[in-house]
Amino acid sequence: MKVKSSFFCSNCGTESPKWIGKCSSCGEWNTYVEEIIDKGTQQSEKDKAWKDPKKEKLVPKRLDDVSALNASRIDTHDNELNRVLGGGLVYGSIILVGGQPGIGKSTLLLQLALKQNKKILYVSGEESEEQIKMRAERIGHKNSNCYIYTDVNVSQILKESNKLGPDIIIIDSVQTLMSPYIDSTPGSISQVRECTGELQRYAKETNIPIFIIGHITKEGGIAGPKLLEHIVDVVLQFEGDQHYAYRILRTLKNRFGSTDEIGIYAMDMHGLREISNPSELLISPDDDHLSGSAVAASVEGLRPLLLETQALVSPAIYGTPQRSATGFDLRRLSMLLAVLEKRCGLPFGQNDVFLNIAGGIKVTDPSIDLAVVSALISSLQDIHISKKICFAGEVGLSGEIRLVSRVEQRIQEAGRLGFETIYISKYKADLLPKKNFGVEVRMLSRVDDLLREIFA
Ligand code: TYD
Ligand code: MG
Repeated sequence: MKVKSSFFCSNCGTESPKWIGKCSSCGEWNTYVEEIIDKGTQQSEKDKAWKDPKKEKLVPKRLDDVSALNASRIDTHDNELNRVLGGGLVYGSIILVGGQPGIGKSTLLLQLALKQNKKILYVSGEESEEQIKMRAERIGHKNSNCYIYTDVNVSQILKESNKLGPDIIIIDSVQTLMSPYIDSTPGSISQVRECTGELQRYAKETNIPIFIIGHITKEGGIAGPKLLEHIVDVVLQFEGDQHYAYRILRTLKNRFGSTDEIGIYAMDMHGLREISNPSELLISPDDDHLSGSAVAASVEGLRPLLLETQALVSPAIYGTPQRSATGFDLRRLSMLLAVLEKRCGLPFGQNDVFLNIAGGIKVTDPSIDLAVVSALISSLQDIHISKKICFAGEVGLSGEIRLVSRVEQRIQEAGRLGFETIYISKYKADLLPKKNFGVEVRMLSRVDDLLREIFA
């Protein structure tokens, strides 16, 4: 049999018959790698590997005759996951769960499997049955209808699945899967793509939802889930710092819901715990009245999230003052410092500035500017800001405090969590409903107002 090889872009998976330096599809350089492929002769046989031969052939159908996707979704018994999926698991969907090794992907999905009262097929090419059993015991939930299968051959997996008839399939991980019709090694681009394609056809045909775990290496890695993002219906990213207990499940793509939802978990001794009220955990108690911290009323997805921003401003010992930010954009920090220097005449230029968002959370919501600025001034002037105060506002280049989205929701959450005062932008504030939010709403138009209001 003649061995055929081809070149694939390791970034986007585009195929090319010969090696090229720059990918014509995604524009990346030096991403093409050679892969041995062996399609052709066995293609037709392959298609039949798990299919029922009696099944009718596909013919074009009138859209009117197609029944809509069953609106009812499967409840995953995990509120965070349900929300991230857009209200539950859709039948026949393929969900890719990506993340760095060790972040907790296997734990998340095994936990999901054990919380169901449905029939689950958990396929693992990474761990032995005993290892999975140990993990299951650690997690503590029980589901007598959870089946473990440790094979890596896709055709074999789908055959077994046909016999078992599970309600949900979990594949751990796509990098270990292999299709016997392709010669290249598991984890290579052509294998990953072929196997995922096969799983996708299976899911669509049988209506069984499939979770696929995929590793991303630090460099983005070859055959990383990037290439799969086009094939699958939902892409979830599980992220977090290994050194913090918090894990965030983020939607990067969702054909059935919004993409800006997050789910928050904490990893503890018995698996992952859902955090339904993250704000309480992200704000440290206000016991010792230290300066340099301020609470931001932020929004992640549809969910309001109150977080603590911490700043340390101290005289620079070495020539060039240092700036460092964790969980916040460094360039944005420089911009905020420049605004404070210029508009309020505050001498940040001779100081080292460190900024940290508590809990190892990365924030992109511009509304935390106001809290960051407050924390910076608080540290510079060594004046403590009460933890009963929170902030929501974006700071513009001329020092103006700008309106942010979902103000009402932020105010409501602040009230619910027992804050006494929330500072927001004056701009268009008259549009806010005149009602009692249980928290005093104060308005600022410029950063200098902040100096008068809080640091007077
Ligand atoms: P794992 O799910 O194996 O990560 P991944 O599949 O993404 O590679 O989880 C890895 C870490 O989670 C591991 O370092 C141990 C930790 N862990 C706990 O802290 N508590 C637990 O109950 C479990 C099951 C794991
Ligand atoms: Mg794992």
